[in-house]
Amino acid sequence: MAATREEVVQLLTESYSMELETIMNYLANSINLDGVRAEEIKKSLAADVTEELLHAQQLGQRIKQLGGRVPGSMNVKLGGQRQPPAESTDVTGVIEAVIEAEQGAIAQYRKIIRATEGDDYVTQDLCVRLLADEEEHLVLFQGYLKEYRQK
Ligand SMILES: [Fe+2]
Ligand SMILES: [Fe+2]
Repeated sequence: MAATREEVVQLLTESYSMELETIMNYLANSINLDGVRAEEIKKSLAADVTEELLHAQQLGQRIKQLGGRVPGSMNVKLGGQRQPPAESTDVTGVIEAVIEAEQGAIAQYRKIIRATEGDDYVTQDLCVRLLADEEEHLVLFQGYLKEYRQK
């Protein structure tokens, strides 16, 4: 059975919080890392910050369209993701954290896609598009991990 409108708003709000947490961690990692090997990863993360912000904006618009309210900083739930590594040359740690964040986002979008099946096609369509972006990010960073594990 399809989720109620309130349940969909709740699920979208969870995704919204996850996107904001991702932005904070990618932003930190895109700055904190040191070393020649880190340069490409830093650039990739900096570009992702913009993409994840766009995701949060689209989720926020849909939350509003469904009659919900986009939460402020006190009501955004943070702290569920792996934190930037203590060691500034730990590129592998950053890549693994990104993979975990992307897998989390993917699981949440798949949940919303299932919850809206046969009912809220607009939310479903949005989440399918966001899912495609996250799968692209995941594959990209899984590729980086392969390369870094070889060195
Ligand atoms: Fe995202
Ligand atoms: Fe992503």
